[in-house]
Amino acid sequence: MDLKKDGEKIYPLGYEPQEKPDVVDDNIRNNLLDFILKSGPSEVVDTDLFAVMAKRRSTRKFLDKPVETTKVDKIIAAADTAPTAGNFQGFEIFYIKSPEKKKLLVKACNKQPYVDAPVVLIFCKNPSRVKFDFPDYILKKFAIQDATLAAGYSQLAAQALGLSSIWIGMFDEQKVMDLIETDLIPSSVLCIGYPEQTKFPKPRRNLKDLVHVTW
Ligand SMILES: Cc1cc2nc3c(=O)[nH]c(=O)nc-3n(C[C@H](O)[C@H](O)[C@H](O)COP(=O)(O)O)c2cc1C
Repeated sequence: MDLKKDGEKIYPLGYEPQEKPDVVDDNIRNNLLDFILKSGPSEVVDTDLFAVMAKRRSTRKFLDKPVETTKVDKIIAAADTAPTAGNFQGFEIFYIKSPEKKKLLVKACNKQPYVDAPVVLIFCKNPSRVKFDFPDYILKKFAIQDATLAAGYSQLAAQALGLSSIWIGMFDEQKVMDLIETDLIPSSVLCIGYPEQTKFPKPRRNLKDLVHVTW
């Protein structure tokens, strides 16, 4: 079956992956995701997960260099591999492309100038997707975890692709929602690009202080 036949919507208007599968295999649950994840090139710099984690460092200064579409595809696809409560995928990603909107987003993010980055993804909670018969507050709790994990997966994927990022949690929720015209509450803004400089990772507390062994 041709993917475009039957008007099947496999990607949103304005976001078209660089490469798409020619044929659909009905045994594969999400053909496009599968295709993007398996697609080679795009200079995957690091395939060692632990090296990726150990080297990641937030960046607030990005080069003007645009990020290749294949890399954006992989970063978005990585988010979609994250576990979610009940596999209901209680989150949405808003991919901000308009330079004007990025400027407004800087304002909505407490005037943090680096939010105007080459790639800007806003992760929103969508508790209405979480179809458990649980109290509302649990659904909201699941949705924030879904959105946060997804953003974390994207952040690591960006690092693996030789990019850097800054996680933005300081923003005016309502201003961001107005900007992207949604009633979904954002959980984080992930700004991605090529770093001006590669820096050493920041120190962390000792593991013995972090881990509380409980028998
Ligand atoms: C929940 C959360 C919120 C954050 N919010 C901001 C933010 O609004 N602005 C910013 O510049 N950095 C923000 N950061 C990035 C942290 O400052 C950064 O991750 C931290 O200093 C550790 O540095 P590292 O990422 O290089 O290891 C946030 C990170 C997290 C996880």
